[in-house]
Amino acid sequence: MELLILSLYILFTITLVRALLSLLRSSKTSPKLPPGPVPLPVIGSFLKLGDKPHKSLAELAKIYGPIMSLKLGQKITVVISSPALAKEILQKQDLAFSIRSIPNAAHAHGHHIYSTVWLPVSDQWRSLRKVLNSIIFSGKRLGASQNLRQQKVKELIEYAGKCCQEGVAVDIGSAVFKTSLNLVSNTIFSIDMADPTQDSVKQFRHLIWQIMVEVGKPNLADYFSILAKMDPQGIRRRLTNLFGETFELFGRLIDERLELRRLRKSRAENDVIDILLNISEETGEINRTHIEHLCLDIFGGATDTTSSSVEWAMAELLRTPETLKKAKAELEQNIGKGKPIEESDIPQLPYLQAIVKESMRLHPPAPLLIPRTVETDVEVYGYTVPQGAQVLVNAWAIGHDPSVWENPTSFMPERFLELDVDVRGRDFELIPFGAGRRICPGLSLAIRIVPVMLGSLINSFDWKLEGGMKPEELDMDDKFGITVQKAQSLRVVPFPV
Ligand code: HEM
Repeated sequence: MELLILSLYILFTITLVRALLSLLRSSKTSPKLPPGPVPLPVIGSFLKLGDKPHKSLAELAKIYGPIMSLKLGQKITVVISSPALAKEILQKQDLAFSIRSIPNAAHAHGHHIYSTVWLPVSDQWRSLRKVLNSIIFSGKRLGASQNLRQQKVKELIEYAGKCCQEGVAVDIGSAVFKTSLNLVSNTIFSIDMADPTQDSVKQFRHLIWQIMVEVGKPNLADYFSILAKMDPQGIRRRLTNLFGETFELFGRLIDERLELRRLRKSRAENDVIDILLNISEETGEINRTHIEHLCLDIFGGATDTTSSSVEWAMAELLRTPETLKKAKAELEQNIGKGKPIEESDIPQLPYLQAIVKESMRLHPPAPLLIPRTVETDVEVYGYTVPQGAQVLVNAWAIGHDPSVWENPTSFMPERFLELDVDVRGRDFELIPFGAGRRICPGLSLAIRIVPVMLGSLINSFDWKLEGGMKPEELDMDDKFGITVQKAQSLRVVPFPV
């Protein structure tokens, strides 16, 4: 904290003069920026963000409207908070807004020049997206790897069964995080990466967790160019070490696989790493560095988001026992009491699907999506989004807008039974996965595994909050990071059904 204050103090003296000069210069020629709060010298409107920017920005949007601009440090940030404007940015003018605003931390190990998440729309990005969309997450491949995911869900249920026998609580977020990690690591490398008995991967879970923590920290270096090289909070330095350890581990696993392929004289496509190595050998479109960074993107993109989705949905169900009862009734009728559910069951479970949508409306794991920027000035609804501005789409604000949703703060899955609204990026009132060409490539996997994990947990056990806590006492506060998590982890005790 002292470091932050000291950095701000130094900044104040160095940049005040600069800021005043540029203010004088720009006042003559400034474009018509969207409305927004008057910035303070040097720090701009930084303090208005607070520790839950998605909520503070939603409040500001009530004053300044669905397109507003704020000066955060030196960076102009344009915030979008309505379905119509989200459609304009993510669909109608998609190409102009398809470049990411790259955070300083993403420069660790040059991740920004290899990562699907941060690369601009380019041949390299297209190649990587093609690998993700048409190979790794194609319907055919996802269908073929279904049994593997089912096995991991079975292990989650067995773990909850053990807690049930011992009468102890399950930390839902942590148990599902472990399942998601194993699910992804089996898809890519055919091994359990969250298994503490495997030496080579003992620290992996901790590593991914630490990366999430560091990436989620607000970084002064993103808002004051003068601090970019200095890295005053040490975030890029710590991430360089964490990425280094992760790439070392991926590198070892890739070497082991290359050796196995050499010995077996086979290039069989048993998992994603085989597919990636084959593409690399056959087309040269991607190399080993791309593969390592792609693995990081997949682990980073998949684990935290899916586990927080399941944890929030479970928390909402436990807080509203009548919805839990309805969900259990639907599962009992279609699947049979006490059984885990399978991906092929999902179409028969409209109420479960509605629960997942409703929970993602209230708790989008990435509430501000992933920041974008523009290379030139772009006109939107009569305003100018200036070149280099950071553009945030507030999916949380859209999901809580009373002009879009009746009783927006209530958890009412029933609303989706009558509404033809989906999460696939076509309906801009519900965009937890974003939309347009940069829409989440893991969507097709997420919409299979989130309902399967949630449905299996609620169908296999009856659940009670730990310590005799009443549903209405459940703390639903969130904490902002790379994804928005429950501030208090959800601890629930399973009972036999
Ligand atoms: C509940 C689960 C998930 C949620 C809510 C989620 C959400 C998002 C969002 C909001 C974006 C930004 C979209 C935009 O800018 O319009 C994104 C991008 C991305 N997601 Fe996901 N995601 C989830 C699961 C996954 C999974 C399973 C993967 C595994 C590969 C993944 C990998 C990525 C990648 C690589 C990007 C960057 C795409 C690009 O910039 O081209 N996500 N995700």
